[in-house]
Amino acid sequence: MGDAGRREFLSGAGFAAATLFLPRSARAADSRIEVLAGEPIGTIANEIYGHFVEHLGGVVYDGLWVGEGSKVPNVGGIRKALVDHLKRLPAAVMRWPGGCFADSYDWRDGVGPREARPRRTNFWANDMGGLPDGPGKYEPNAFGTNEFVRACRVSGMQPYVAANLRSLPARDFYQWIEYGNSPEGSTSLAELRATGGDPGPFRVRLWGVGNESWGCGGNFTPEEYATEYRRFTAWVPRYGLDLAFVGSGPNSGDLGWTRRFFARLVEKGEGQLGGLWGWALHHYAWNASRGRTTDWFEGKGDALRFGVDEWYELLKEADKMDGLIAQHWTAMGEFDRRRRVKLAVDEWGAWYKAGSEVHPTHLFGQTSTLRDALLAALTLDTFHRHADKVAMANVAQLVNCLHSLFLAREDRFVATPNFHVFEMYAPHAGGQSLRTLVAAPTLTYERASGTGSLWGLAGSASIKGKTLTLTVVNPHVREAREAEVAVRGARVVSARETTLTSDDIHAHNSLAQPDAVEPSEGAAAEARGGVLVHRFPPASVTRLTMELG
Ligand code: AHR
Repeated sequence: MGDAGRREFLSGAGFAAATLFLPRSARAADSRIEVLAGEPIGTIANEIYGHFVEHLGGVVYDGLWVGEGSKVPNVGGIRKALVDHLKRLPAAVMRWPGGCFADSYDWRDGVGPREARPRRTNFWANDMGGLPDGPGKYEPNAFGTNEFVRACRVSGMQPYVAANLRSLPARDFYQWIEYGNSPEGSTSLAELRATGGDPGPFRVRLWGVGNESWGCGGNFTPEEYATEYRRFTAWVPRYGLDLAFVGSGPNSGDLGWTRRFFARLVEKGEGQLGGLWGWALHHYAWNASRGRTTDWFEGKGDALRFGVDEWYELLKEADKMDGLIAQHWTAMGEFDRRRRVKLAVDEWGAWYKAGSEVHPTHLFGQTSTLRDALLAALTLDTFHRHADKVAMANVAQLVNCLHSLFLAREDRFVATPNFHVFEMYAPHAGGQSLRTLVAAPTLTYERASGTGSLWGLAGSASIKGKTLTLTVVNPHVREAREAEVAVRGARVVSARETTLTSDDIHAHNSLAQPDAVEPSEGAAAEARGGVLVHRFPPASVTRLTMELG
């Protein structure tokens, strides 16, 4: 069918602007997506839509926490606009207080009467050398455990607390658990908790045992860390809760860290794996140099100013997540034959050089563009495709930081394109991930030497009842991809589309222009012959919502 014919067919049937159903024989598309309804992968955990809040730059102060007395609208001191937006996302999880900050943090500094809490030098103070003094340098401890749990409760998230393994003894770890979880009035720490307005227990289930213990979290060898991990988790008070401990896992492709940790852990018997719920994996897409360097500072790109090849390279860097999950999972399986331990990708996102932060004190603050929206989408799709392996993920970080969903400065607030992707993808949470086959022309781009390549389309599908959600990324900056979409083993009766794109690959929302990048909704379409043809615009994220017969 030619273009003219297709337009006629489209308007005659009253279909969505870019969507139509046609018989299988009329193949016009250059791509094909096949969802296998009979091949479930696993349930997509809500926790995959998790967040990360560190005492770093403008994340807590100016971002999440404005204080009860602030002129900025707030819910018990938590920025109201942020709370309202989080409520639109899956009820997931919030990780706190770091990051590297966690292994310098004494939880006792952040409890009790606020006015009596000490000021401490923040872990990140050295990185803020030339910047004016403020809470990013000197931690005021106004936001502590009670305030964090409040932030989780008002925004519908469960708390995930990262404990200090580098600079506090194991005793502080189990007493923090006692502070948070011991029953009302039962212990002195429960009474201290009550002075912060919370007599009842927080019931915190998720506990990180250190952070990046291979680096800022103690510079351990994997063997040393495994010994510490066993010591920290050997005894803690449980109060009837099924506590879930997360071990400090590898930096990107460091398979040696995974293998050597697991090998040392199980030296005391495979039963030790029962005390490890999640194995943290951290992966940032930071090297935009297209093979020129592997230097952490040299390799970083600009958040707002980048060329087409750099756009592709950064997406490719993020796409490494797929292989990282598979490789670490395989390595874990060498020791964990019963597959008790899942992956917890508790830091992920893009990391650019400084320059696009909304305020100089927002260390690592960056403005996210359409590129970051595609990066978020392809990463969430990756997690869905590995729903049997990934139990949790936490985008770094919630506000005013790396791959943030929000930017905030005093009383101004904006949702970034990353937020829109999280909201578009929300129907996947709790759904059954389905195996999905995609065939599309591979794209190529220029690297420092040679040519790079990236898939033409990628995505994921899930089903809840009779509703199937398919999300797809088209990374090509100029070419739309027209794809036949078939659901094998089910009949599609209608489809709706939601698309996030822009004519400008650098498009972003700012405090001055908060709605430059927003998703658009397509009208409902009817099924014909079971095969849908959809045109995925260049540089886009698309959600197709299909009702099955
Ligand atoms: O997210 C910023 C930092 O990146 C975290 O503090 C640390 O864990 C990681 O290296």
